[in-house]
This record gives sequence, structure tokens and C-alpha cells, in this order.
Amino acid sequence: MTTATIEVKRTTHSRLKEVDFNNLGFGNHISDHMLIANYKKGEWHQPQIMPFGEILMTPAILSLHYGQSVFEGMKAFKNNNGEISIFRPQLHHQRLLKSLARMCMPAISEELFIESLCALIATDIDWVPATEGSALYLRPVIFATESKLGVKISDEYKFVVLSSPVGPYFAKPVRVKVEDTYVRAAEGSTGFAKCAGNYGGAFYPTQLAKEQGFDQVLWTDARDHKYIDESGAMNVMFVLDGKLVTPQLTSSILDGVTRNSLLALAKDMGMPTEERKISVAELKEGFEKGTLTEAFGVGTAAVVSTIAIINIAGKDYSLPADSNSSFQQRVKKKLHDIRMGNEPDTHNWNFNVPLK
Ligand code: COI
Repeated sequence: MTTATIEVKRTTHSRLKEVDFNNLGFGNHISDHMLIANYKKGEWHQPQIMPFGEILMTPAILSLHYGQSVFEGMKAFKNNNGEISIFRPQLHHQRLLKSLARMCMPAISEELFIESLCALIATDIDWVPATEGSALYLRPVIFATESKLGVKISDEYKFVVLSSPVGPYFAKPVRVKVEDTYVRAAEGSTGFAKCAGNYGGAFYPTQLAKEQGFDQVLWTDARDHKYIDESGAMNVMFVLDGKLVTPQLTSSILDGVTRNSLLALAKDMGMPTEERKISVAELKEGFEKGTLTEAFGVGTAAVVSTIAIINIAGKDYSLPADSNSSFQQRVKKKLHDIRMGNEPDTHNWNFNVPLK
């Protein structure tokens, strides 16, 4: 299958003019078109691109009741030569396969996945922002659509791709609270998968943290609340004793593509890295001794988001003020320059979208 074979039904009412590209926020605008492919009788059928809008389904679709729904989040960038590339779609596809397998959902081929992304971008090419710090966010989602009330693995699914021009996810440095009561995911659960339920289950504790003035929860291990896991919408990294330290991957942590990329860039930059358990006590000691100099969240949406405050057991600990020479700012710039074509893409991360 090639993008040329994907049928496109174009909208007659573009909403592009309604978008203020200098004030995008995150996820506020969905582009004119969406891609949909259906899975029935054991196979994926030919995708179609159509105007974004409502789709008809019964309220008995299994994903609504039993949670078979997984998604991905990627970004496409317009570089300085006007070319458009998707950042590491192959790695996102590999993660999607792991999420699908965990949720007993059918695999989707890399070819169908990437061709779909490219076809949607080519259709909504005018929606790809060129403003500094912005991107076209790509949201593929697969969910169960068989209409039945019995508790079962669905035999039918939809693969939908939406896109949205976005700016930064966090407008300012974030305040996080170490969670010592609620749990996002335990070892052996679905924590590593990008499934809808992980997000729904996090809303309540995150809402409580927001009421106390925090932006995000810093999740800890489910058994003892002793070790740092991740922070809901992003993985977390610390500069401790001059080294880049991040929690090692477990079945309760999302294997972030930005996390993976930053670890590789840190090595390129000669920054020592450690993927290991990080205890809350170690962070507290790092604050007290002054050895914890940076903390930041990393993710497709969050990119590199400075953490200003970490609340541990009710006490706010402040990180030193961030500066252009900090590791997080230098690595963020390097990532940006690779995506924009200002620096050689030595890892081959940019996937160029073929445009006619
Ligand atoms: C992403 O970074 O793509 C995410 O999925 C985080 C959030 C927007 C759900």
C-alpha cells in the first residue's frame, strides 16, 4: 500500500483560519481531516481520510465498557527548508505494538502506521506550524468497536489518526508533588502501555495535587512509595552529582521516546548517564546537600519541561533557577536543532514525509 492508494474525502469547510498559530496551547485545535481504518474478520482494511467529525457507533462498543483503547503521541516538524519530518515514528510504532499486545488488541503493520501518518500530514499540510517551539502533534488511537455487553476481547477495532498544531505543553516551570498515597501502576500492570485507563486512573490524584497548587504528580512505586516512577504526562530526569539520572524502565513506567532520545544525546554530549532506581530519600538528600541541581520532565508533548519545585511529604523543595548553560537547556536545544535540520541527524531520527 502507498499513500497514493489512501482515498481522501476533503472538507469543504476548512477551519484553518480560526487558528491563531502564535497562541496554540496544546490540543486545542484538531486539523481538518482524520484517518480511519477498520479491523474486521482478522484484518485491517484500507484506511480512508475524511473531514474530522463525528463517527457513528453504538454505546455498546467494548472499549467504552472494558477499556481496550491504546494511543500514541508523536510530532511532525517543518524544518528550515520547508521539509516536514516525523520524529522517530518507527520507535513509536514499536511501543504501540507492545501496548496493543498487552491489551489483547491486533497488531498494526509499520507500513500501515507510517503511511497513514504521512497521508494525513500531506492532506493537512497547511496545519503544520512553522512557529518556533510548535509542531503538528499526531494522535493515533486504536479502540475496540465490537458492539456487545459480554466481557470479552473485541473482534473489531478502529484505527484513527488525528492531528493538532501545538505549542508547549507547559507554559512555565512545573511544580510536582511526590505521590505517597495513590498509585498509577504496579509492577506487572499496564503501566508501560499507552492505554487510556492509565490516564483515567491518574485523574483523581492529579486533581487533588492541582487543588494543592501542583501541576503534576510524581508517581512512586506501588508497593512502598519509595522509588520514583514517572510523572503522568512525562518521564522524569535529574542531574545529580553532575550525572544525568533517570528511573530505569520497569513494567510500571512508559518507555518514552523523548527519554530514549535524551539518553542518547547525553552520551553524545559526554554527559554521564545512569538508568537506575532513584529513591525519594535520595532526592531529599540531593536537595539538602545541593547535589541535585536539575529536575525536568521529558515527553513528546512536554519535550523538556523544567521542574521548579518537588514537594516531598508536604514540604516544597526548590531546584536552582534554570539557565541557558544548564544541561536541560543544552540538550533541549540539541534536540530542537536536529529536528529543524540545523544539526546533522546522526541517529536518523527524522522521518521525511514524502510530499508531492
Ligand atoms: C505525549 O507526550 O504524547 C503524551 O501522550 C502525553 C499526554 C499528552 C497524554
